Amino acid sequence: MKLNHSLNKIHTIKLASIPTPLDEAPRFADKIGLSKLFIKRDDLTGLAGGGNKARKLEYDFEEIVNGGYDVVITAGGIQSNHARMTAAAARKLGLDVKLVLGGPDFETEKGNLLLDVMFNAEIRYLVDDDANVSLENEMNKWADELLKEGRKSFVIPIGGSTGLGALGYVKAMEELSAQLKNDNVQIIVGVGSCGTFAGTILGSKIFLPKARVIGISVSRTSEAIKKRTSELIQESAELINYRLNEKILVECYDVYHNEYGMITEAGKQAIDDTANLEGILLDPIYTGKVMAGLIDLVDKDIIDKSIPVIFIHTGGMPIIFSFESQLGNKINCTKIFPKN
Ligand SMILES: Cc1ncc(COP(=O)(O)O)c(C=O)c1O
Repeated sequence: MKLNHSLNKIHTIKLASIPTPLDEAPRFADKIGLSKLFIKRDDLTGLAGGGNKARKLEYDFEEIVNGGYDVVITAGGIQSNHARMTAAAARKLGLDVKLVLGGPDFETEKGNLLLDVMFNAEIRYLVDDDANVSLENEMNKWADELLKEGRKSFVIPIGGSTGLGALGYVKAMEELSAQLKNDNVQIIVGVGSCGTFAGTILGSKIFLPKARVIGISVSRTSEAIKKRTSELIQESAELINYRLNEKILVECYDVYHNEYGMITEAGKQAIDDTANLEGILLDPIYTGKVMAGLIDLVDKDIIDKSIPVIFIHTGGMPIIFSFESQLGNKINCTKIFPKN
């Protein structure tokens, strides 16, 4: 049979532990009133703590290794999962790594930042500045400096969200389609720099045509998401020679986050419930908010309770270890002192 895309012709380098499991979450589904809920465990993709970025990096690093680059530069917030996974991937492939991070000043290295340090990534930190434009400028400046030293650096944009990187989620939808008996499902995914969302939408179009994809923002407005996601879908489709015959609908919601990087009350509740009912950990910046969004959309009947829901668990677990004061406040512990 002739395929209507050339996805399999684009080379990748093996970095992610895939396929990831598709776990049913029956107690959580029951609590929120869904007939069926499955969690696509992309928190188990590897690279020092898992997450969605491993799938994108398989495409970027193929270019890096074949292009003869010796150093990788990327950027993100202080708790960027993308930065941590890029550092892990670079070290796995014997490359040097530099990170431009931004956010509030910090006293100790925790969560993803601690892992960045363990990978011996050199870090430039823009204190109190998470404006993406300055992070991008700093990356380019650093690449120029390195060039003068005779180094060849590859700059991966914030979040790894390019048309190429988004193919990681087109491929993930092929993987998901092999795990499902029926593609009449509702897929929930978190949206930051839009690459995961774009890949999920395009991949569903190709491999799960009956699926409805719903994005939950962790930072941007719905309007900004629709624009960027549509651009990325277009770029990815061109790379794999897939013809987009109709305008693609981008469905997303932007009311489940406050300031990027801050925990929300509903997110914290969703984290507690998922841990207690399913033994699965969500994080406060991304997946906790996405789960809180899912609960509210079910409550408001925007999500159809009778159609199975697939929650894409995009990772973020190390972030938990930078939120200990907000998350670990209810220890149930009896101290026992052995008698001497
Ligand atoms: C855990 C987690 N979930 C979701 C996202 C959003 O993915 P994207 O930036 O591709 O929109 C990110 C991005 O950093 C993330 O780290």
